[in-house]
Amino acid sequence: MRKKIVAGNWKMNNDLSASTTLAAEIKAGLSSMALTDIEVMIAPTSVNLQAVAEVTKGAPITVAAQNMHYAENGAFTGEISAKMLQSVGVNTVILGHSERRAYFNEDANLLAKKVEQALEHQMKIVFCFGEQLEDRKENQHFNVVENQLRDALFQLTPADWQHIVLAYEPVWAIGTGETASPAQAQEMHAFIRELIAEHYDEEVAEDVCILYGGSVKPSNAKEIFSQKDVDGGLIGGASLKSEDFLALIKAI
Ligand code: PGA
Repeated sequence: MRKKIVAGNWKMNNDLSASTTLAAEIKAGLSSMALTDIEVMIAPTSVNLQAVAEVTKGAPITVAAQNMHYAENGAFTGEISAKMLQSVGVNTVILGHSERRAYFNEDANLLAKKVEQALEHQMKIVFCFGEQLEDRKENQHFNVVENQLRDALFQLTPADWQHIVLAYEPVWAIGTGETASPAQAQEMHAFIRELIAEHYDEEVAEDVCILYGGSVKPSNAKEIFSQKDVDGGLIGGASLKSEDFLALIKAI
């Protein structure tokens, strides 16, 4: 049975003190909540991963990285390896975020290599994908999403899928204040689950968590999270204030 996940992607926000403060506030807020079958995840910037992992020790919080390199080690200036993440207690990584795809030219080929490397290290992957506004206007959104999944993930074995969390994030809804309607989210999530069932089987499809991302906030979370195939959210802006993030966790 799949669980629910509320994941905060802090992006390039919060210095060391802001990161540890926010993490401590979330930890304190969670102490009075019953989190049955709910996973809370936060993804600070890489330089603060270790400090946040320290602060959240003992709390039901998964600390995730926002990115990693596909190579084991070597001459890749500025990059971070799976092993380095694991050495500071981080075993979860977000891959394929639309900002990585758009600003850092991450394509399917590269992402497939990153996925392979993360799995090699038994890491959990939050794999992001989603269509652009033009794709939706041209009614190509299902094709685009299908290709993004096929190209980066459909070479995996059914067992590999135990390490995969999907995050459907329509690019037009990220940081724009514009959200997919609950019906649009449900429609796409059901399509994705069906696609996985066709390529693998019902069991893999039913077990995989599919998160929605794109301007989720306390005022719209309940309706989105209540959709049958929406298993939680990947949250940017609203994850930067503990009050909002905790409200999102309560909404699930
Ligand atoms: P947003 O970002 O919640 O600020 O739209 C979501 C994301 O990029 O994961």
